[in-house]
Amino acid sequence: MDYKKIISTMTLEEKASLCSGRDFWHTKGIKSQKVPEIMVSDGPHGLRKQPASQDHLGNFESIKAVCFPAACATAASFDRALLNKMGKALGTECQAENISTILGPAVNIKRSPLCGRNFEYFSEDPLLATELSGALIKGVQSKNIGTSIKHFTANNQETRRLTVSADVDERAMYEIYLAAFEGAVKNAKPWTVMCSYNRINGLHVSENKTYLTDILRDEWGFDGVVMSDWGAVNDRVKGLTAGLDLEMPGSYGINDREIVEAVQGGSLSEKTLDKAVERILKWIDKYESKKQKDVKWDKEADHELAGRIEEESAVLLKNEGPILPLDKNDEIAIIGRFAKAPRYQGGGSSHINSSKVTSFMDAAKGKGHEIHYADGYDTDSDEIDRALIAKAVNAAKKSDVAVIFAGLPDLFESEGYDREHMRLPENQNVLISEVLKVQPNVVVVLHNGSAVEMPWEKDVKGIFEMYLGGQNVGTAEYNLLFGKANPSGRLPETFPVKLEDNPSYLNFPGFMDNVSYAEGVFVGYRYYDTKKTEVLFPFGHGLSYTTYKYANLKVSKRKIKAGDPLTVSVDVTNIGRMAGKEVVQVYVAAPQDGMPRPVHELRAFDKVALRAGETKTVTFELDSRAFAYWDKERHDWYVAAGDYTIEAGASSRDIKFVKKVNIEAASKPRFTITENTCFGDLMDIPELADSLKPLINSYFHIDKKEKGKAGDAINDKMAKELLRFSPLRGVISFGDSEYDHEKLAKVIKVMQEKLNH
Ligand code: BGC
Repeated sequence: MDYKKIISTMTLEEKASLCSGRDFWHTKGIKSQKVPEIMVSDGPHGLRKQPASQDHLGNFESIKAVCFPAACATAASFDRALLNKMGKALGTECQAENISTILGPAVNIKRSPLCGRNFEYFSEDPLLATELSGALIKGVQSKNIGTSIKHFTANNQETRRLTVSADVDERAMYEIYLAAFEGAVKNAKPWTVMCSYNRINGLHVSENKTYLTDILRDEWGFDGVVMSDWGAVNDRVKGLTAGLDLEMPGSYGINDREIVEAVQGGSLSEKTLDKAVERILKWIDKYESKKQKDVKWDKEADHELAGRIEEESAVLLKNEGPILPLDKNDEIAIIGRFAKAPRYQGGGSSHINSSKVTSFMDAAKGKGHEIHYADGYDTDSDEIDRALIAKAVNAAKKSDVAVIFAGLPDLFESEGYDREHMRLPENQNVLISEVLKVQPNVVVVLHNGSAVEMPWEKDVKGIFEMYLGGQNVGTAEYNLLFGKANPSGRLPETFPVKLEDNPSYLNFPGFMDNVSYAEGVFVGYRYYDTKKTEVLFPFGHGLSYTTYKYANLKVSKRKIKAGDPLTVSVDVTNIGRMAGKEVVQVYVAAPQDGMPRPVHELRAFDKVALRAGETKTVTFELDSRAFAYWDKERHDWYVAAGDYTIEAGASSRDIKFVKKVNIEAASKPRFTITENTCFGDLMDIPELADSLKPLINSYFHIDKKEKGKAGDAINDKMAKELLRFSPLRGVISFGDSEYDHEKLAKVIKVMQEKLNH
């Protein structure tokens, strides 16, 4: 496609009209230019292709498709290769269904367990979110199908999602909320980015140049199309100027006309419009020019794959005894509606019309188990039904073990609104405690998209977190519970003991149209671990049916310069009898004497398969970002000098070995020196010592002949402490009258030059 030529012959009206959708799911074609229309579809964990009726809330029927586990589950796999495989399967489905671009993955940070859409999101940790979503993007795009990483950005709640302003400081923005997108955008190069509904610090993202152009395109090099979330456009002309290319689904021509008028009236340059048109044409051409014809997709094979992905994702949270795997000769009470009709996906725009569903009971059928089934609770309400509970207690009483399938019913979490609390429905908590009165061997299998409180955690022997495990969750449950598969999922989020422990608790979902991200960078384990708060289950936690031993943590150097990479390796051995997969996690603990930093942050991870008895050396390369924080002053990443600790472990609270590494800072801190700068901020910078000395001497009335000695009443250490928080202007009030404002300004100028040099 010769974009330049097409643009030069397009009318202004044609250009404007290309910048919005024809309908819910199609771009507009331009017959005279032979530009075809292309179709996009939700996303993110299966296809929601709607043939005729259209909506973005999942109300209308879509074609039959395979519902893979949602991101809450796949994130727990910690497995890039697995996400890549899932991406390839989604890509093939899109090829077969003539979908140019799948609307996902969704990588927003799980700031609060209450966000109604957490089930679609990956993690509270940006590295995990960006690495896994990047792997999925690469998989989809290897099939010449586009992705739309979403919702860019700071869309961390459903309450007032179209109008709320996320009031976030620049550092938290870069280190947490943008970082979830950054790696995937830079490395996996999604064809499109979907901007979010919300505002950031007052301005709608859909018209926010800082995010859509300065950061996304200029800092990260994104060269694809930015499309709006469905209905996210607030001011179309401002949006176009800020970098929003495509409005979806469109506004019946109203906003297109605004674009035309703005160009005619001179408030919008036609060049800006041309740029957006060019990007949209490139995207259409990318898909059309290599479009695969007559691709078939195998729903049965993808159903199998969905089950295998879930098997690698489910997290074994507790296994006392060990009670699991279950003994196939035992009589087993299977309690809970979710064993027959699992909750395996969330509500809203990601809702898939599943080709089929395999529940645990389906998977266990015909396998010769002695099972006593009872419904236990109703999923339509949280009302306690004593008759259902009595039947469940009866089943538990006559069995060797009771497995309770619990979780959040649809009503409790969905796109469009947030959860009201972090509890399971009351009828399920009561059921679990009643069963525990007659049966000591209780295993709970959970189906939910986000963390829940577990008041019965100490009393049950086993807990499986399945998350929302996709349409073949039952097969995964069967294989995991009976030991045909070894659990290897790890929590991609902390489970706090109670909602009130969460760092966003006082500021979620905010008041009216403002939500303050007052916790800053202290999100998830960055907060809990720094604060030493007791948690129910820590970030990265997950058990296995085998045991892993760590040894030989090595770092390539004990002393490096800021900017240098560091190689870290550790040996992991499977010392049990069953093959399994361990997730090795590397955290970096930065020095705590300067900028407030979390006690440690996940900087690398890998999932390794180990046969019984096998040892593997796992190696990681840490680049300078692993040590850096976002420095507002220099608007860049900054590595502070000092001692860093490299930690290797199996969760954020299970660190096996540590090694210290010293980093020499190549650059000096950057800030503007004024009369109000404190001496303490300058005293540790060797380059400034010569300029500071006369000021200090004057401050303490030190006789020059005494060569800088502070005299009897005050020693050097005391002088340093006294000066730490004294501003330079103190030399004028308390000094030996050597300095006035003018003279001080001269010294400040010299010091500033030395600092900037
Ligand atoms: C959602 C997006 C989705 C779009 C189209 C919006 O309401 O936020 O995630 O892709 O609808 O269905």
